[in-house]
Amino acid sequence: MELRNLRCETDDGIAVVTLDRPKALNALDTETLRELDGLLDQLAADDTVRVLILTGAGEKAFVAGADIKELSELSPLRARAHAAFGQAVFSKLESLGKPSIAAVNGFALGGGLELAMACTLRLASEKAKLGLPEMTLGLIPGFGGTQRLSRLVGQGHARFLVLTGGMIDAEHAGRIGLVNDVVAPEALMDRARELATQLAGFSAATLRLAEQTVRQGAEMAFDEALAYEAAQFGVAASTGDAKEGMAAFVEKRKPEFRGH
Ligand code: CAA
Repeated sequence: MELRNLRCETDDGIAVVTLDRPKALNALDTETLRELDGLLDQLAADDTVRVLILTGAGEKAFVAGADIKELSELSPLRARAHAAFGQAVFSKLESLGKPSIAAVNGFALGGGLELAMACTLRLASEKAKLGLPEMTLGLIPGFGGTQRLSRLVGQGHARFLVLTGGMIDAEHAGRIGLVNDVVAPEALMDRARELATQLAGFSAATLRLAEQTVRQGAEMAFDEALAYEAAQFGVAASTGDAKEGMAAFVEKRKPEFRGH
């Protein structure tokens, strides 16, 4: 598939996906969502890709939201289908089975913040501004924002951000746990690659199990989630990588994980 609004460069098991639609501050129109959807399928199927980094082209924006010009022309039924499609693409990213890191280099608003929240982890530049401004447009978030935000930062912060439509800076986002770390703008991509390299060095199987257990367990009753954790622990313990990891500890050497 030809990519017009995205770029993807893969090196050493790390795929850097850059949202690149400068005329609209990388806003997500249907075409861009379709490209992302297809690219995710390709990256999921490519065994050489271990970790994804998502970022925005240019100095100013990660992604400034869904494309408002496109949204303004949708009928109610088309708007519902559009939201469902965006949600499906972001859910695909979230449950890809490979960790993704959002490198939030600037504005992450509306659909842009929703995209960052669908990533496994988030790093932000000190210059980043984050928010769900849909209220200011007479809308509500539609690409999963009302649900992922409260799951990440709790109902109190989520209600405040959704109902006021206000933007917060990176430091504030770090304080409430919306991003995992805040770094100088010029250090953002190096930090993202460093984190991606760390993750790529672990067992791909164990990473997948750990991510699934944290995310899916959060949707279960506590006892059920503990039973799920124990079952997943059993699967992790049965992998060759678990044998290798523990043998390497005992033999005081670095483990060589093979991903199964
Ligand atoms: N959709 C379409 N175009 C957008 C856009 C968006 N979300 N965000 C910015 N642009 C366009 C602007 O229209 C402008 O285009 P022109 O040069 O053709 O006028 C260009 O990008 C540059 O933007 P600005 O001139 O506005 O730049 P600024 O520095 O003055 O402001 C900004 C930056 C604060 C991010 C401002 O652009 C802005 O508020 N953007 C909209 C943010 C927003 O409301 N996002 C939520 C969208 S709704 C949504 O996402 C719903 C959902 O959950 C699915």
